[in-house]
Amino acid sequence: MPHTSRIQRLLGLLSVVAVVALAGGGMYLWRKPTRHPDVPASPHFDPPPLSTSPFENTAPAATYVGISACAECHKDEYRTYLKTAHSLALADVKESAEPADGTFIHGPSGRTYTVHREGGQLRHREAARDDEGHEYVYADLPVRYLVGSGRHTRSYLVAVDGFLSESPLTWYASRRAWGMSPGYDRPNHKGFERAADGTCLFCHVGQVAEPQREYQRLTFPEQPIGCERCHGPGSLHVAAERDARDRPRPGGAARRHTIVYPARLARPLAEALCAQCHLSSDGMVTVRGRSLTDFRPGLPLSDFCVSYRLDEPDSRMKVVGHVDQMRQSRCYQASEKLTCTTCHDPHTAAGPAKKHQHYLKACQTCHANQGCRLDRKERLRRNPANDCLACHMPQVDTEIPHVAFTHHRIGFHSPATPAAPLAPPARLPELVPCDEVSRFSATDRDRNLGLAYFGLAQRQADPDAADAYRERAWRLLGAVHKAGLPDGEVAAALARLCRDNDADAALRLAQEALADDQLPPKSRVNCLFLVGDVGLQTNRVEVARPALEQLVALRRLSEDWLLLAECRRRGGDLDGTLKALGQAAAIAPFRPDIHGALAQVHEWRGHADEARRERSIAERLAAQSRPTR
Ligand code: HEC
Ligand code: HEC
Ligand code: HEC
Ligand code: HEC
Ligand code: HEC
Ligand code: HEC
Ligand code: HEC
Repeated sequence: MPHTSRIQRLLGLLSVVAVVALAGGGMYLWRKPTRHPDVPASPHFDPPPLSTSPFENTAPAATYVGISACAECHKDEYRTYLKTAHSLALADVKESAEPADGTFIHGPSGRTYTVHREGGQLRHREAARDDEGHEYVYADLPVRYLVGSGRHTRSYLVAVDGFLSESPLTWYASRRAWGMSPGYDRPNHKGFERAADGTCLFCHVGQVAEPQREYQRLTFPEQPIGCERCHGPGSLHVAAERDARDRPRPGGAARRHTIVYPARLARPLAEALCAQCHLSSDGMVTVRGRSLTDFRPGLPLSDFCVSYRLDEPDSRMKVVGHVDQMRQSRCYQASEKLTCTTCHDPHTAAGPAKKHQHYLKACQTCHANQGCRLDRKERLRRNPANDCLACHMPQVDTEIPHVAFTHHRIGFHSPATPAAPLAPPARLPELVPCDEVSRFSATDRDRNLGLAYFGLAQRQADPDAADAYRERAWRLLGAVHKAGLPDGEVAAALARLCRDNDADAALRLAQEALADDQLPPKSRVNCLFLVGDVGLQTNRVEVARPALEQLVALRRLSEDWLLLAECRRRGGDLDGTLKALGQAAAIAPFRPDIHGALAQVHEWRGHADEARRERSIAERLAAQSRPTR
């Protein structure tokens, strides 16, 4: 058989693989032809200015010292803080403290999931069973971290060769049962291939090391959310207070503002401490040249990121986050004081036993005289405990993380009438900023809005809406790019937007984005993938291959290895091809196409036994991969 025809056969195999995988991604659905923007000139653009603060530790000179340094002098706060959900938001898995072993079959994917213990480790296993009940194990991984303090759900991370991924298994406290993690209950879920990156862990971990350089191989200099996430870096304060302890200050000397004291912050700045993790909006964009990890308590959040919400009818009913709901309350709007810490003390876990009194006291700080308008007799008839929360901050039935369980719009709620089905909106809702953005230049405002539309389009289920939002993103970002704004994020988004219409422009834009040192890791991996994928499609192996070699060092995804295998094969490196296919199969052992490709390449190399073995695995997998429901 001539060599070229073999190549074509494998090429056919791999490109089918790639097309199927890409179609599932949703981001390649854009069909409309568009012009790519012109190559930029380079005028001068100042990045938006940082705000100033009387607190000295908002300046870059202050550094983080870790929670144990604070414990030295603030023993009480430290002791009670260790019991809060914050300090438990990500923990090492202790096998003895985890729910019991269990097993179930997931209908849509046809796979069997098992939680079991071995050698003092909790493990999550993914497998398939054939008709005779024989089990074929796809993955059996020790669980590394527990995410979430476990009040409603326990989710987990696994680490393979240092790559952190989410586990498809979650424990649901209300059902007392194992189930698929949120977002995984479908036939072609991502198994163990969903990366736990810095964006995911920003809110659950104290400090992440090098989030700008690493993508999926993160380490944590401080694992629990520490004091400094709310008080800012402590180096100046610790040095000043140690100094003052050793050499007492002369009477009357003014104390320095060496650490953020939140009670002295204006309300928006105090709220920003909580909002960095508790704000959930319809779009969040990082300010040019900065990252969310640069945020310093005491500064406005909008120095670092800008949030957007969809301006749609009845949006009040759709708001799911604590911060946004609270801001819609009359209590908030008609008072200057109400904020998160009116009701929550961040240093102590409010025990459920004292819950009622604790919150009643909070309401009474403002409603002592002007209390409930509902007649007292009627109120006690409806709620004998006179629990203000039951009527004014009701709890909703949800087990989805990141959706408020307790409604934070303090006000009137009528649970009896189920919401009428909403008529489809007459026009497509638009994004409006939640923050004050007038201090940004017009170019930066367009850049932020364009990136917010781009993000929104990526998450849209409705293809028409996604198209419309992509158009908006393209228009705004194209103009900004043409004006010469130096920004990898903009180039990265434009590359994705035009990849299906103009491969040359997409490659050029992605390379431009990759040349920006400050490109966020998520955009970096997206651009590397684009260069690998589009480079291969347009037969530029010399461009695709180095990008893919970099990519596989950053994340653990079978798709990346498949593309790299194809690059190596086209370069005539069959042993390298086998290695790359082997990696892909180790990551996604249930994919018959990968084993089919392995069989093919083994055959070319003259490895008859291996070829036969891989072929039979591929056939078995093809027969098994049917859903059971
Ligand atoms: C060497 C002892 C020492 C260490 C270490 C220390 N503090 Fe303090 N801290 C103090 C003293 C003393 C005060 C002043 C208390 C007062 O005036 O009531 C203080 C006050 C504070 C305040 C209130 C600020 C203000 O202006 O009144 C905060 C917040 C605070 N510390 C947080 C921290 C954090 C966070 C850490 C760890 C990064 C830390 N401290 C480490 C001794 C220390
Ligand atoms: C670094 C991110 C971060 C910051 C900053 C932060 N939170 Fe949280 N918060 C979390 C996470 C993550 C959880 C969920 C913990 C869990 O259940 O695993 C949480 C949980 C909570 C809970 C529920 C606690 C419970 O016992 O169930 C409250 C209340 C809360 N936060 C209030 C606040 C307030 C008020 C602030 C600001 C003063 C704040 N948070 C700042 C990340 C953060
Ligand atoms: C923007 C901040 C943020 C990000 C990013 C984030 N979380 Fe959370 N997460 C929270 C907060 C705050 C809570 C607790 C309150 C809530 O549910 O809103 C929480 C709660 C949870 C819980 C429920 C814990 C419980 O006690 O029931 C799980 C599980 C969880 N997160 C997993 C994840 C995973 C996995 C990722 C990454 C893919 C992630 N979160 C990303 C902020 C965040
Ligand atoms: C989730 C955010 C958050 C975390 C984490 C946090 N604090 Fe605070 N801290 C606050 C807020 C908010 C206040 C102001 C409370 C108020 O308004 O009265 C405060 C106040 C303080 C004060 C001033 C004295 C007081 O009680 O008013 C000290 C001291 C302090 N914190 C120390 C610590 C130490 C030590 C840690 C870590 C063990 C820590 N904090 C962790 C948010 C936090
Ligand atoms: C008027 C009082 C009040 C204010 C203000 C308030 N909360 Fe709460 N919050 C509650 C109550 C009550 C609960 C339910 C506590 C429970 O069930 O133990 C709660 C629960 C929570 C939880 C746990 C998850 C849930 O939905 O039950 C989080 C997280 C939280 N609040 C965050 C915040 C943040 C962030 C802010 C500021 C934006 C805030 N809260 C402001 C009263 C308040
Ligand atoms: C910081 C002060 C403050 C706190 C704390 C506070 N409120 Fe209010 N609340 C107000 C103000 C001010 C209004 C508006 C009164 C008016 O319109 O005249 C209000 C209005 C209300 C209303 C009417 C809502 C509407 O949509 O018209 C309800 C119900 C209410 N509060 C319940 C509560 C409950 C329950 C708590 C405790 C969980 C609470 N409030 C805590 C200040 C507060
Ligand atoms: C059984 C449910 C229920 C309970 C419990 C309850 N409320 Fe109300 N509350 C209502 C209703 C319904 C109204 C509106 C009455 C009306 O408009 O005639 C209301 C009105 C209010 C208002 C608005 C007053 C105004 O003048 O606009 C406030 C403030 C309020 N409640 C506070 C509280 C506080 C504080 C508690 C706890 C001590 C509480 N409520 C307990 C149902 C309740």
